[in-house]
Amino acid sequence: MRGPREKARSELPGTKIIAGSPSDLSKAWARYYDRLGAHFVELIGRRRFQVILEAGCGKGQLTIPLLRRLPTNVKMIAIDSAKGPYDGWLNELGHQLRTAGLEERVRQIRSDARRIKGVEDSSVDVVVSNELLCDLPFDSQLEKALKEFYRVLRPGGLMIHGEWSSSPAIEPQAFLVKHWPSWTPDQLFAITRKNGFHKFRVTYFGTTIHFGYENAIDELRTWGAKETFLRRNDKMLKREGIELPYEHIVQCEK
Ligand SMILES: C[S@@+](CC[C@H](N)C(=O)[O-])C[C@H]1O[C@@H](n2cnc3c(N)ncnc32)[C@H](O)[C@@H]1O
Repeated sequence: MRGPREKARSELPGTKIIAGSPSDLSKAWARYYDRLGAHFVELIGRRRFQVILEAGCGKGQLTIPLLRRLPTNVKMIAIDSAKGPYDGWLNELGHQLRTAGLEERVRQIRSDARRIKGVEDSSVDVVVSNELLCDLPFDSQLEKALKEFYRVLRPGGLMIHGEWSSSPAIEPQAFLVKHWPSWTPDQLFAITRKNGFHKFRVTYFGTTIHFGYENAIDELRTWGAKETFLRRNDKMLKREGIELPYEHIVQCEK
């Protein structure tokens, strides 16, 4: 059982979720994605729609909280290339969807976002992604994906992409940003406009997770941190942990 002090730490007011020890981690991520799902739903607003496509859906981290918040008549097309470090993630998504009883609402497609298989032109009302664009780090890759999103969206359709922001708030994030740069909203404005989108807007998702030492080490490893970096920063990680960057979320229309 938690003591009163620990309880207070895990319920800090505001938008910081605390994952102090490994046992807090899965709950912390679930809360994070639940709030992110709510943010996406708010951005979609009151428009009526029936088909939403999530590109780079991964294991369903955002897919499931998003679906839970959308009207039950909304169907989702969930695409992911599920290669390399993400091998097996689509199988995990299938499992998660069945467990949540949501499998009937989702069509899963193993496909690269740059050549979307099996989705007709102008057949989708909303395209969303989270943490996909950072996996398309070159202009040519991002443009191919944007052209595909433009193709599958119906005229007037909405597109929303979330990505961890490049503005570090504390030091270890400066490291993350150097090793895993994201597109800035300015760059995304220019490139979406060039590819025919309009009504561009940016919002910020201000929720973050604070990772305690062991969680911080694991997170940094998954983000490509070298052991030398971890050793060099060990004291600071023990003292401060790390914090997830905020997300910038861009939206625009076809
Ligand atoms: C960092 S994960 C993000 C997963 C999930 N959307 C989330 O918010 O946690 C990136 C996901 O995008 C997928 N991905 C990367 N490049 C892709 C591409 N070109 N086409 C389709 N999926 C891609 C990966 O397989 C992985 O599942």
